Amino acid sequence: MATSKKLSAFFCYSFLLCLLFTTNQTMSESDHMETFCNKPSGNFIRNSTYHTNLNALLSALSNQSSLANYYNLTTGLASDTVHGMFLCTGDVNRTTCNSCVKTATTEIAKNCTNNREAIIYYFDCMVRYSDKIFLSTLETQPNTLWWSTDLIPKTFGKFGERLSDKMGEVIVKSSMLSSSLTPYYLMDTTRFDNVYDLESIVQCTPYLDPGNCTTCLKLALQEMIDCCGDKRWAMIWTPKCLVSFDTYNSSLSPLPSPTHSGSFSIRGCNKLGGMVLAVAASVLAFLGL
Ligand SMILES: *[C@@H]1O[C@H](CO)[C@@H](O)[C@H](O)[C@H]1NC(C)=O
Ligand SMILES: *[C@@H]1O[C@H](CO)[C@@H](O)[C@H](O)[C@H]1NC(C)=O
Ligand SMILES: *[C@@H]1O[C@H](CO)[C@@H](O)[C@H](O)[C@H]1NC(C)=O
Ligand SMILES: *[C@@H]1O[C@H](CO)[C@@H](O)[C@H](O)[C@H]1NC(C)=O
Ligand SMILES: *[C@@H]1O[C@H](CO)[C@@H](O)[C@H](O)[C@H]1NC(C)=O
Ligand SMILES: *[C@@H]1O[C@H](CO)[C@@H](O)[C@H](O)[C@H]1NC(C)=O
Ligand SMILES: *[C@@H]1O[C@H](CO)[C@@H](O)[C@H](O)[C@H]1NC(C)=O
Repeated sequence: MATSKKLSAFFCYSFLLCLLFTTNQTMSESDHMETFCNKPSGNFIRNSTYHTNLNALLSALSNQSSLANYYNLTTGLASDTVHGMFLCTGDVNRTTCNSCVKTATTEIAKNCTNNREAIIYYFDCMVRYSDKIFLSTLETQPNTLWWSTDLIPKTFGKFGERLSDKMGEVIVKSSMLSSSLTPYYLMDTTRFDNVYDLESIVQCTPYLDPGNCTTCLKLALQEMIDCCGDKRWAMIWTPKCLVSFDTYNSSLSPLPSPTHSGSFSIRGCNKLGGMVLAVAASVLAFLGL
């Protein structure tokens, strides 16, 4: 099923240049958001031990994604050590997680041919590898932010205020659910005025302590609200957390169940027929490197 939907995205290329795209595109099974090959991290030599370790790591991540929504792994020794992980969003099933991570591991190897460090984001998952330890460090870059070009209708009263309050509340709740080994995932759906439903999702990567998880979510939420507090939906992935919201006309449907399908699958996009609208003067760094 291919659905047409307007999308915008804030892209940051090469960790330096940010471009704003607006595009009207066809959605399909592919739901790639953005790939960051960290060039400053240096290159490895083709068929080197690092390369072999990376391939083994990506293959293991791909295999593990049929078993769980999260996995981290380290392969190799000394300067040939590669650390890696994947995380699927808390609302996708094993099949979707597995197929997302399979595609992601293939694409990251193909597109970041010999970079020692890279990260790839999809609407349903993210995959990352690095020659450095990163699991418990708080990082906010590189991130990817997508939003609907459809604006919130005027009939959705006090939307901005409610979005900010509700998501702040969900972040606080998610920190109370956390244990150090489980992904901090929480989805909330609240109906306002019997006019609209607001679905909020927050999630951190495991091994991030609760304090840093909360910090990550708050920073991501702020960035999302600043750009997209008046949009029908938006989603931001950072290396350590995910924040997204979606809205529904409640008169049209019963309150969506926590496992409702469709809303995520139509968010993906597979091609950019877009045009450059603006260049934002924002310089980003792959923090901590
Ligand atoms: C790397 O390995 C592949 C497959 O094992 C081989 O076809 C290729 O020639 C090798 N390349 C180099 C530069 O050694
Ligand atoms: C992943 O699964 C494939 C197919 O079952 C297998 O050939 C491969 O060895 C596995 N890789 C790892 C690292 O477990
Ligand atoms: C994942 O990372 C944690 C924290 O570094 C470590 O204790 C655990 O052994 C790792 N898991 C695997 C499968 O390597
Ligand atoms: C990989 O690179 C190709 C060519 O640059 C591009 O068309 C494709 O969208 C990229 N895919 C991903 C997943 O980054
Ligand atoms: C956040 O993580 C850093 C390591 O990246 C750690 O030093 C710091 O104590 C953590 N902060 C909190 C509030 O736990
Ligand atoms: C939702 O309601 C608004 C006005 O309240 C309307 O403009 C919009 O078309 C509706 N959306 C759908 C999908 O029906
Ligand atoms: C998993 O979710 C996808 C997308 O929502 C759905 O199409 C598929 O049927 C689900 N698979 C299972 C086994 O539940």
